[in-house]
Amino acid sequence: MCGIVGYIGEQSAYPILLEGLKKLEYRGYDSAGVALLCPEELKVIKAKGEISVLEEKIGNGFPSGTVGIGHTRWATHGAPSDINAHPHCGCSEEFAVVHNGIIENYLGLRSWLEKQGHHFVSETDTEVLAHLVEHFFDGDLLRAVVQSVKMVEGSFAMVAISENEKGKLVCARKDSPLVIGLGERENYIASDVPAFLGHTRKIYILEDGEIAVVTANSVEILSVGGEVLQKEVSEVTWDAAEAEKGGYPHFMLKEIMEQPRALRETMRGRLLKGCSEFSLPELNLTPEEIRSIEQVYIVACGTAYHAGLVAKYAMEKILHIPVEVDLASEFRYRAPLLNKKTLFIVISQSGETADTLAALRLARQKGNKVLAITNVVGSSVAREAHRVLYTWAGPEIAVASTKAYLTQLFSLYLLTYYLAQEKKLLSPEELKEAGEALYRLPEQVETILKRVDEVREIAAYLTSWESAFFIGRNLDYAVAMEGALKLKEISYIHAEAYASGELKHGTLALIVDGIPVIALVTQRAVIEKSLSNIKEVKARCGHVICFAQEGTIEFQREVDRVFYLPTNLDVLMPILTVVPLQLLSYYAAVGRNCTVDKPRNLAKSVTVE
Ligand code: F6R
Repeated sequence: MCGIVGYIGEQSAYPILLEGLKKLEYRGYDSAGVALLCPEELKVIKAKGEISVLEEKIGNGFPSGTVGIGHTRWATHGAPSDINAHPHCGCSEEFAVVHNGIIENYLGLRSWLEKQGHHFVSETDTEVLAHLVEHFFDGDLLRAVVQSVKMVEGSFAMVAISENEKGKLVCARKDSPLVIGLGERENYIASDVPAFLGHTRKIYILEDGEIAVVTANSVEILSVGGEVLQKEVSEVTWDAAEAEKGGYPHFMLKEIMEQPRALRETMRGRLLKGCSEFSLPELNLTPEEIRSIEQVYIVACGTAYHAGLVAKYAMEKILHIPVEVDLASEFRYRAPLLNKKTLFIVISQSGETADTLAALRLARQKGNKVLAITNVVGSSVAREAHRVLYTWAGPEIAVASTKAYLTQLFSLYLLTYYLAQEKKLLSPEELKEAGEALYRLPEQVETILKRVDEVREIAAYLTSWESAFFIGRNLDYAVAMEGALKLKEISYIHAEAYASGELKHGTLALIVDGIPVIALVTQRAVIEKSLSNIKEVKARCGHVICFAQEGTIEFQREVDRVFYLPTNLDVLMPILTVVPLQLLSYYAAVGRNCTVDKPRNLAKSVTVE
């Protein structure tokens, strides 16, 4: 996920591009760059780091052109660096391209282009687009872009400029957003409306498979086949601050809603052959290495630690090997027992959490190979681990982690089934069943996200309480811990998670008339046991809100409220169960007028011990 901007008109382009990039910084912030068509030549300036680094590098002596493109990057292929930053050029530096998305066949295209004499300088997938445009250019930039996008597989939103055709920007999209802003004798292009909302509210929304030629006085939109399309101009009604959140009142809600897309991105290229084959080439583990794994050790903090707890249940069940899960802040001050047959995993959204990084270093010192599961390419954890499995959640801005957690779970399931496949622990039929079940999840999450009103009603009950309990057995217990953390960190309601069977060993004393108890009952093997625990709570007049799979037991009679989840394999249910819990916390926090995205005392990236 990256941010793209483009401007063509009568004003100096650079300040407009810079302002647009700053509005899109939420889409990525590891490097930025601009390309400007100046009277004498095409000028490209880029810098690793936040947009402020680029701004400082350029200073006041910026190039004077009135046509340009800009980009703020969220690295996917190639670590953050000046060279990997966009815009990218062909060999001749007469063309510049910015891109958001992933070009899946870029390796094949790159070697094809190299054989035609093209020379590459970066590690990015995007650079092939610049070379393709250059390769196909015969005096018509539009034709070159059309030819190029026809060869590309994957997702893209792109804008190209050329010093050979100075009066136009050509852009195209497939599976990545792109909007065109319409001004007076000037036009804009961006990944998202806030980039130009200070200048115009009239927009064209580009659809998949559409290409646009944008000049200062015109916008022509075409299909890949060359047919000119008539599109409606839309009017933006949000104010600028709202629009940065895509119309959502908070980043947290936006990120919760983005989860189906994030899961699909994380799945991309990893479930093959009609979901019957798991593929994780980035692990780069030999069959002998995989066979030799006799123990898994997972270390993380907070929500990422909770993802590890889910993995413990799943891995022990599927791989039949012991799995230890540890808090990074504890692990580093113990004398942990690791050996050469331990697969050591750290999980970190930011890849910068100080304790997690220290745990990683400790494991390395002990001679262990470390696998990192992280969301940030080029982060410290990604750089220092031996292998990296990326969660493609895109930038997570809200302090409370939602989409990163879900993609961590998804990655851990992919890893588990991949290891089971390589260790030959599951039959082809079982692997296919699991693959298909994983494949269904994004759509099932979508159906849950449509039931916001139901969750909002449940949250209304919670808002007046200062205490709540989350209970569950087995995998539901691991999810209960995440549910409780989410609720307390953003709504400030004191929430505790308990293994349902533990209640009678002390906690039952806290159950008073009406106190909210969120009971997770998605694991069929322990339904009856969980029901007994629910009855213990009900006997003390607790208010039980139950989350269960559709078509299991009729819980209505037993509890005060039930939210039925779509059914899936029990082992995968955490992905579905946590989504309404995220919404529950969100609406409880909104109901209590809390600062949802920035809870008190917390920070997104905890780079101190
Ligand atoms: C809670 C939350 C935190 C993080 C924790 C680790 O919603 O976001 O508990 O999970 O600070 O952060 P990362 O994953 O960046 O290492």
